Formats: sequence, C-alpha cells, structure tokens
Amino acid sequence: MSTAPKQPIAGFSKLSKVGKIKWIVENFFRDPDTVMRELTSYWHHNEDQQKVLDGFSENTISNYLLPYGVAPNVLINGQYYCVPMVIEESSVVAAASAAAKFWMDRGGFQARVIGMIKKGQVHFLWRGPREKLEALFPMLEQAMRRDAAVHLANMEKRGGGLVGVRLRTLPEVEAGYYQIDIDMETCDSMGANLINTVLESFAQTLTDVISGQADWSDEEREVQVIMSILSNYTPECLVRAEVSCPVNALGSFPNGIDARTFAEKFALAVRIARMDPYRATTHNKGIFNGIDAVVIATGNDFRAVEACGHAYAARDGQYRGLSECRIEDEVFHFWMDIPLALGTVGGLTALHPMARRSLELLGNPTAEELMQIVASVGLAQNFAALRSLVTTGIQQGHMKMHLQNILHSLGASDHEKVSVEGHFSDKVVTYQGVREYLEWIRTQPATFAVKP
Ligand code: MEV
Repeated sequence: MSTAPKQPIAGFSKLSKVGKIKWIVENFFRDPDTVMRELTSYWHHNEDQQKVLDGFSENTISNYLLPYGVAPNVLINGQYYCVPMVIEESSVVAAASAAAKFWMDRGGFQARVIGMIKKGQVHFLWRGPREKLEALFPMLEQAMRRDAAVHLANMEKRGGGLVGVRLRTLPEVEAGYYQIDIDMETCDSMGANLINTVLESFAQTLTDVISGQADWSDEEREVQVIMSILSNYTPECLVRAEVSCPVNALGSFPNGIDARTFAEKFALAVRIARMDPYRATTHNKGIFNGIDAVVIATGNDFRAVEACGHAYAARDGQYRGLSECRIEDEVFHFWMDIPLALGTVGGLTALHPMARRSLELLGNPTAEELMQIVASVGLAQNFAALRSLVTTGIQQGHMKMHLQNILHSLGASDHEKVSVEGHFSDKVVTYQGVREYLEWIRTQPATFAVKP
C-alpha cells in the first residue's frame, strides 16, 4: 500500500533541510524516525563541506555515497598514472586494474588527442530570400565577433577562442530555419558556460543587425531566435587510445586458450560489436563503465560524455561498437577513437573536494592529458571485458566480486566470509548457492573450522 500523501506540498523548496526531511519521512516512510536518522547520518560531519555539496543542487536532504577506488599502474605514453574511479559496479575497478597491468607489461597505452573543437548553435527562423542572408553574413559575423569579444578575451589569452563561425541552412527542418554554427577551443575548461554565453551574445547581435537593415522589408527585418545552446556532440574533440603487441606476446589464457586463438576470438568479438547494435550497446556500456568512473571522479559531466559517445557510435547511421581490432603481420592492434569534452579547470573540478583530489592524484593534468587518460581507461575496460567474455565468461570474475555484496546482504560474519570465499574459490557463485552454504555453516558446531 502506498504511503504517499494525497495532497501536493506548496513551498517545499522554502523549508529548511530538516523541514524537508521531516515532510518526506512522515509522508513516504513507515518508520520516520529511523529514516530521519539514516538520512542525516550521511550528512558531512564538516558543516562547511556540507554547504559546498548542497550548493551543487537544489532541495538537497542528504548525500548519496558511491565507492571511490583507484586503478594503479596505468601506463600511458610512458607515464604511470594511478587513476581514480567512482563506480558502484563490483569488478569494474578490478578489471581496469588487471587490464592496465596486462598492458603495462607490453608497453602500455598510447594515446593522442586528434582535435579539441567544441561546438554550439544559434537556431533561428528568417523568412527572406536565402541569398540576402548569405550576402549579409560576412558583415554579421564581424559584428557578432566584435560584440562577443569581451566574453572571449580571457580564453584568447589562454590560447583558445572562436575558431569558426558559419551559417547553416536546414530547410528540411522548416522553410526559413537557419543556424549560426560555431567552433570553439576552450583549452583546459570544458567550456559549456563560455560557449553558451558567446552564443547568446551572437543571437542578440543577429537580432540587432537584421532589424537594423533599413533597406529590407518589414518581414525581412524580423528574425526569430529559437534557442542558443552548445552542442554536446563534439566529434572533433577526439582522442585515440591504442595498445598493440606481437600476437605471441599476448601469453596464454584460461581454459587452455593460446595467444593466436585468443587474438582471433577477441578480434571477432570486436567485429561483432561493429556490426550488431545489440552487441554494440553492451560493448560500449563496458567502455563507459571505465570512462564514466573517471569522468565522475574528476568532476566532469558524464551525461554529456555519454550522449556524445553514443551519437559518435552511430555517426554513419548505424550504432556500432566504439573500439576496433586488427591482427596484421602477427601484431595484435586494439584501439578506440572517442570524443571526450572534458575540463580540468572550472566547474565542479574546482569546487568538489574529491574532484580536486582526483586531479591532483593524476598530476593535475591538462584537459588533453585527461582525455588521454579517460580514453585509455575506457579501452582497458573494454579489453578486460572482452578478455573474460572470450575465455572464461564474464560471470566467474563478476560473481567473485559480487560475492562480497551477497555475503554482506546475508549478514555474514568475518569468520563466515572466509569460509564461504574458500568454498567458492573453485565454484560458480550464485546467490542461492551462497545462501545455502551459509545456512549450512550456521548449523555446524561453533568450533566449525575454516574448510576450503
Ligand atoms: C558489464 O557491466 C559490462 C560488460 O557487459 C561489457 C561487455 O559485455 O563488453 C561485461
């Protein structure tokens, strides 16, 4: 039976934090006191820190904790990184670490940034003849650049700024629909605010210039700005991460699989993901297990990164796996190009205390370095997933890690945990299997010895 209130609440956002919790626990929970205690138990003990966290959002009542782990020994372009990862899925960090170790012994990851261009558009309607607008555009562009100069001055000092402005016509959307499409370099900042500010300035100038064309008709002097907003699709903010080694240096694998068989199965698994959207989605999900974890740990926008990555995966009209693999002249090559719009200054990177520490842990990288790190971790994650899939199957490693969650949920003591871990070291872990074994242990005499 639902405990939800029959009436909506007015003025919720005006309530104090305790007032908000009180209303919630009294209206939605069966045991208000316990839930109140639980929610407040996750408040930060340092009031100032809590204020910082509350400032990131609205109507905050508590904090939602996620594990903060690290993958050490990630060798990228000859440099070792200890990479912070925020993720709740057991085995992701272990898999990234294992793949990093595997490639550390084979030269590590090579990564390079291919481009740093970010984009945005002013979307508008204008009903005059297209040639007239095109003829006006050089003067319009000058005026837009002049008016936005004040917003761009700092970025230009840092080496970034506007690198392209063009008029796009898209009559297929609607007759008279156009875009002012801009390319920007935003150096070490993700740049969303700056791009949006510049676009809004452009939109104002567009309106002013068009309405000021004295020799145009009344209709031609009218422009309707629909919206001004950055695009999270940044295919030219691109990084490549790759690994390679002679096939025979891949070593041997569980279940008696030799290096060549492994390489061929692995390459086929990558090809399947390139061709089949069902497999591609899961394949890319595995890549984003790693990418999102680092993006979150460094205070970047994982929704933007995900949206862009999936759009890029479908750039030729079919959704495909993001990574590629080739065996050539007995050398195994595995790589991935991925667009990543990341920042290492500004936004949450400077405000969230753990994001700041993550960046410090990574040696305070530039945005380009962070792109290389994140792409390499994504590739490592993909390698680890495919390695398991084409050898042992994913469940063996996954359920070993998940065993800890199962044991915790069943309230196992430390002593019982050791016993269960020993028992399942060579067996398939299932929730029911663990529960039954634990129940059996609990029927044994107190002197029950740890039995493998
Ligand atoms: C699980 O979170 C991710 C995998 O399913 C990825 C894959 O299948 O490639 C293991």
